[in-house]
Amino acid sequence: MIKTYDDLYTIVKSKPIPVHVAIIMDGNGRWAKKHKLPRIAGHRQGVEALRSIISTSSELGIKYLTLYAFSTENWKRPKDEVNALMSLLVEFLRKEVAELHRNNVRIHVLGDIEGLPEAARTEVRRAMDLTNGNCGLQVNIALNYGSRAEILNAVKSIVHDVQSKRISIDEITEQTISQYLDTRDIPDPDMLIRTSGEFRISNFLLYQIAYTELVFTDKNIYWPDFTRERYLEAIIEYQGRVRRYGGLDTGEDD
Ligand code: FPP
Repeated sequence: MIKTYDDLYTIVKSKPIPVHVAIIMDGNGRWAKKHKLPRIAGHRQGVEALRSIISTSSELGIKYLTLYAFSTENWKRPKDEVNALMSLLVEFLRKEVAELHRNNVRIHVLGDIEGLPEAARTEVRRAMDLTNGNCGLQVNIALNYGSRAEILNAVKSIVHDVQSKRISIDEITEQTISQYLDTRDIPDPDMLIRTSGEFRISNFLLYQIAYTELVFTDKNIYWPDFTRERYLEAIIEYQGRVRRYGGLDTGEDD
């Protein structure tokens, strides 16, 4: 029997909820092709999925939701598509931020904001400033983000701080590196979801996902098809995993 949202919600709530969920929202283009629509219609539909995943995350009490919205490699796409994605971002922020703010959501951006077009930069800053004091769900939008660039910047900053004697080489730990990444003060993701059946990480949170549980949807589930029910199913899959962090399973089945 097909489980309803309420059934799935009850199952998810009966076990520990992931603190931090990261998502690679893949397949907007293929969704559009399947429906014989232009690619941008797929991205637009993707925003609808995004809204429902944000509100479900809030409802579940997830603390951090990190979304891969635009990578440093996405600039290679046709100019029209890049412009359309930036416009969608601006539209999304203009329309949704007030409501997100009312729901105590905090918006944060990972990546190089300075490299975004001016309108996007302005809206992103406005959204971050407005929601800065909120303590509900923190939505991290990765924009003009690439993990290797993030690590490179961290290395440069660490070297700079060593040279200026702010820290010594011996003081550098794995935690120090975490604190120089864009995700400083954010715990590593518990789970990473990628839709549309691609088994790649695509330069997303490479340092942070060392022990993250990876969940890949079927290839026919494109991002716009990722309903709140599919989301709950993915969390149930995560909750069924045993996380050993390189140690031994401490469960009673051993
Ligand atoms: C991947 O689909 C998706 C993206 C590159 C962008 C994701 C963007 C959104 C969901 C909407 C805009 C974002 C915000 C924050 C408002 P694809 O184009 O790579 O799909 P394909 O692999 O099927 O071509």
